Amino acid sequence: MTAGGATLRIGPYMLPSRVVLAPMAGVTDRPFRMLCRRFGAGLAASEMLSADARLWDTPKSRRRRDHAGEPSPRVVQIAGYDPAMMADAARRNVDAGAEIIDINMGCPAKKVCNRLAGSALLQDETLVANILAAVVAAVAVPVTLKTRTGWDPAHKNGIRIALLAEAAGIQALAIHGRTRADMYRGDAEHETVRAIKESVKIPVFANGDIDTPERARAILSATGCDGIMIGRAAQGRPWIFDEVNYFLASNELRSDLPLEKVRDIMRAHLEDLYAFYGDATGVRVARKHLIWYCQQHPGKDSLRAALVTCETPREQLFAIESLCEADAVEAAV
Ligand SMILES: Cc1cc2nc3c(=O)[nH]c(=O)nc-3n(C[C@H](O)[C@H](O)[C@H](O)COP(=O)(O)O)c2cc1C
Repeated sequence: MTAGGATLRIGPYMLPSRVVLAPMAGVTDRPFRMLCRRFGAGLAASEMLSADARLWDTPKSRRRRDHAGEPSPRVVQIAGYDPAMMADAARRNVDAGAEIIDINMGCPAKKVCNRLAGSALLQDETLVANILAAVVAAVAVPVTLKTRTGWDPAHKNGIRIALLAEAAGIQALAIHGRTRADMYRGDAEHETVRAIKESVKIPVFANGDIDTPERARAILSATGCDGIMIGRAAQGRPWIFDEVNYFLASNELRSDLPLEKVRDIMRAHLEDLYAFYGDATGVRVARKHLIWYCQQHPGKDSLRAALVTCETPREQLFAIESLCEADAVEAAV
């Protein structure tokens, strides 16, 4: 049984939970993935990596390929438009330790779509089939696919893409309940996700706007999906995986984390960021996480301003300590 209450297997890997972290470029770096796994995420895919290996020799790309110390199974997401290049990228990442390759056909980013990768690929089903077949044939590890419900609201070809994927040997799907043209507008719709789930036998993760334990359960039951994938709601709240797992298993809500506990999580997260990126970049990367953590605690606006202007690890860590002290002072007056 997974922590979320049902078994879920991808190839040889029995997942510890059916609640997984969504890949998010600029967010799901190694420190954040490991943090979410510690809080019970069943999987945590890397940030998307271009299939073009000529672009890999940059500090950013090297960091994206760094999985040192990550718990198994390590998932690397690749994006590209050329079957041979995608196959090569998959092979190289498996040689470097990837245990699952995830293909991104869900990203509406212009940078990706202009080159017909990400979700722009959804327009060309023959090319989709060729890419999937090439990657599956190239590696001995499971290959999964992350995609959307279709190209645009008039062309929701998600079911055909899912069937192609299953026929190509893809071992799990994650479906974001929006089309490419929707970008992030409107609410995710999970009826199409349900229809996709009903059309295939491989595991399907529902994704899009899942931000509370109650919503997680509602989407699981409305779609019949095997698992759910959470992205933005984990920003500043990596413990959401524990909250959802607990709710799915017990039907009870966890009480809110005390501020001291949140401070300890932030401190450990920041220390991991400094170690991973070095102090200067680590401080910059930490700012957005600090803003997200503060959003979980309305009323911390002055602290938030202080946190994001800090220039050194020492200043940032000191500002975090004052998170609880400020509260203690407020309580005392
Ligand atoms: C900042 C950001 C970066 C993202 N980067 C990726 C990516 O690299 N690969 C990918 O497949 N999806 C990416 N996504 C999409 C998410 O994985 C997810 O499908 C989407 O945010 C919807 O889920 P949510 O409502 O739980 O956030 C990104 C989303 C955000 C907000």
